[in-house]
Amino acid sequence: MKTVAFHTLGCKVNQYESQGLAEMFARRGYRVVPFDAGADVYVINTCTVTHIGDRKSRQLIRRAKRANPDSIVVVTGCYAQVAPDEVGAIEGVDLVIGLGGRANLVDLVEQAAGEGKTVCTVNDIEKVTCFEELPISGAERRTRAFVKVQEGCRDFCTYCIIPYARGPLRSRDPDRVRDEVRTLVDKGHREIVLTGTHLGLYGHGLDGDWDLAALVRYVVKVPGLWRLRLSSVEPTDITGELLEIIASEPACCPHLHIPLQSGDDEVLRRMGRRYDTSFYAGLLDKARALIPDLAVTTDIMVGFPGESRDQFERSLHFVRQMGFSRLHVFKYSPRRGTPAARYPGQVPAREKDRRSKEMLALGEELQHRFASRYVGRTMDVLVEQEYDREHYEGYTGNYLRVILPKDSLHIGDLAKVFIKTVEKGYLRGIIYTKEGFPD
Ligand code: 5AD
Repeated sequence: MKTVAFHTLGCKVNQYESQGLAEMFARRGYRVVPFDAGADVYVINTCTVTHIGDRKSRQLIRRAKRANPDSIVVVTGCYAQVAPDEVGAIEGVDLVIGLGGRANLVDLVEQAAGEGKTVCTVNDIEKVTCFEELPISGAERRTRAFVKVQEGCRDFCTYCIIPYARGPLRSRDPDRVRDEVRTLVDKGHREIVLTGTHLGLYGHGLDGDWDLAALVRYVVKVPGLWRLRLSSVEPTDITGELLEIIASEPACCPHLHIPLQSGDDEVLRRMGRRYDTSFYAGLLDKARALIPDLAVTTDIMVGFPGESRDQFERSLHFVRQMGFSRLHVFKYSPRRGTPAARYPGQVPAREKDRRSKEMLALGEELQHRFASRYVGRTMDVLVEQEYDREHYEGYTGNYLRVILPKDSLHIGDLAKVFIKTVEKGYLRGIIYTKEGFPD
């Protein structure tokens, strides 16, 4: 039996797509094996959102070839799409395939095996108008599964390479989404996370009045679905209707990831973001008034070209004011072909490091502060994995990590947990009762 191994970098969309590709190989008789097992085929699903994604991708290609020098090494994902020549020139790469036309990947791999030279099949993504199905029927983690519902972006923020990699907006057929959610729930996945490159613009290109709120309303009723979570949604895409459905549906997690990028209006403007800090603050007020216990997490970038020390400090101040429960901090990385890469005032690496450390420290403080509010409360925790011999860990609906004693619980249970203490980055609790939601 032939074997295939995957390594996935970057976002939830990539994780979903790797799962879809793995299932494609499995249907053709391949066995999916761990990366260092010396597989016949290696698929490296790359990320290029920053230069770190590029670097990691290159390291993995070398690692794959070392694990089995006779293997076929396939590189796909955003780095392959935007820099096919650069990727194709890396020693050991047999096939570069972009983000379109992967439905016949297995055939391409089997053809490439006989070629003896690097094959490159990267389409012009700008011309792709259909959502390409790479359906999944399971996921690596038993409790949580990602479901991709949307592709592409048309925002072209000045720092971002993703619209060039992912192409125009496309939306997945809502019935396909619902069927996939149903399949995953029937397999025992309790929590579904809807993902997309620009998730908040779901509905674009579909007949009818579909938008993200309508999709949530459509899939949340799947019997046995305990939790529905959204990945990143841009502030300008969060409608009152979306907030209302999250507030009123018990299965919708009280958690929104809303990328802020900067807390300074002038920097936001130069980033090409379509809101300012007062809009953002107003949105959070409205969301928090509607959704009790809402956790808001965000992406924040430091060292955007021209960001002065003052502007950075305004960003820190605004982030603190917004009371996020978790931050993803990114150091600005110039991406070839994007406008900001040519902006004057590029911030030196050492200064970016310094700002990143300060922002990360603030993130920890805010996380601790948010988590502390839950000491003494009883929260529903989805038991996700073993923490140590005596404990499991899992998340609350508002994305607090909780360590709890195993007792008679199993992975996939929903436990009522009395929160006793807060530690660095997580909570500890004791079991209150064990229960499941009625279907
Ligand atoms: N440099 C650093 N971070 C970036 N992001 C997007 N482009 C860049 C870049 N050029 C970050 C943004 C986005 C997240 C997914 O990646 O914060 O929200």
